[in-house]
Amino acid sequence: MNDPFAHSAVNERLIVDLLQELYRRFGLDYRDYSPTFLSRRISAYAKKLNLDSIEELKQKLLENDKQLDGLIESFSLPTTRMFRDAALFQLIRETVIPILAKKQLSKVWSAGCSTGEEAYSLAIVLKEELPGRRVLTFATDLSERSLYNARKGIYQLRRMRAYTSGYQAGGGRAEFSNYYTADHENAMMNAELKKNIVFAQHNLVTDSTFNEFDLILCRNVLIYFNRSLQEHVLNLLLDSLRPGGILILGDKESLRSMSPRKNLLDIDRTYRIYQKTE
Ligand SMILES: C[S@@+](CC[C@H](N)C(=O)[O-])C[C@H]1O[C@@H](n2cnc3c(N)ncnc32)[C@H](O)[C@@H]1O
Repeated sequence: MNDPFAHSAVNERLIVDLLQELYRRFGLDYRDYSPTFLSRRISAYAKKLNLDSIEELKQKLLENDKQLDGLIESFSLPTTRMFRDAALFQLIRETVIPILAKKQLSKVWSAGCSTGEEAYSLAIVLKEELPGRRVLTFATDLSERSLYNARKGIYQLRRMRAYTSGYQAGGGRAEFSNYYTADHENAMMNAELKKNIVFAQHNLVTDSTFNEFDLILCRNVLIYFNRSLQEHVLNLLLDSLRPGGILILGDKESLRSMSPRKNLLDIDRTYRIYQKTE
């Protein structure tokens, strides 16, 4: 039997129409996300609802807010972990913080922070490398559900055990278990770390810059966007950096999709670390 969700000109058209409707009716702008990503997520969501076609899904979504929320959440892939790419965290300790510490490093942004693991990892590194200095981490995402979990800062103990090796490989200077309290199932991040992190909703596609930062991490988010949206978001991130500030992207992301800027230095090509010079 033919797969009704297989790639076809008809399905492509239906997806474009659906995205156009989401934008027109609700102001939700997914029109420039990567077509492959959208097609996979939309088909998976239709199958989850036991629907037989994208046309059927479109009808349902326009009638029912709850199902619309479900689709929007399914566009937010929350995959993350603490000290993801441990070697990068080592490099942040050795290379990035010494550059930033010469000035008054005070504001950091984790953009597309998902359920908060990246923000807590950063807060730990900052605490260890800049003892006594208060650095605020702003951690933002589009997904309210992910932010809700990020604010709670409660993670399965099983996962924390796996994160311990990331912490150590990333140059951890203490015992990782110093940063949380645990019961038999879960770990809760310490209030001491939480008080330096502000979790808030921010849409990289439609919202503008909201502060000036010394360091911005935006990893594994641009991969979901097409080239022109990547360029738009990269400009937003660079405009949100102070002169001398550092931008770090994911290992499959780069500045290639934007027109070259003279005021950018490559700090590390493998780990996609860039500095805004003026
Ligand atoms: C794969 S996670 C990456 C999490 C973390 N940065 C990391 O590398 O582990 C991608 C995150 O981007 C968020 N995201 C997608 N589109 C967004 C947008 N327009 N504005 C803000 N966040 C967005 C998703 O909700 C999701 O939490």
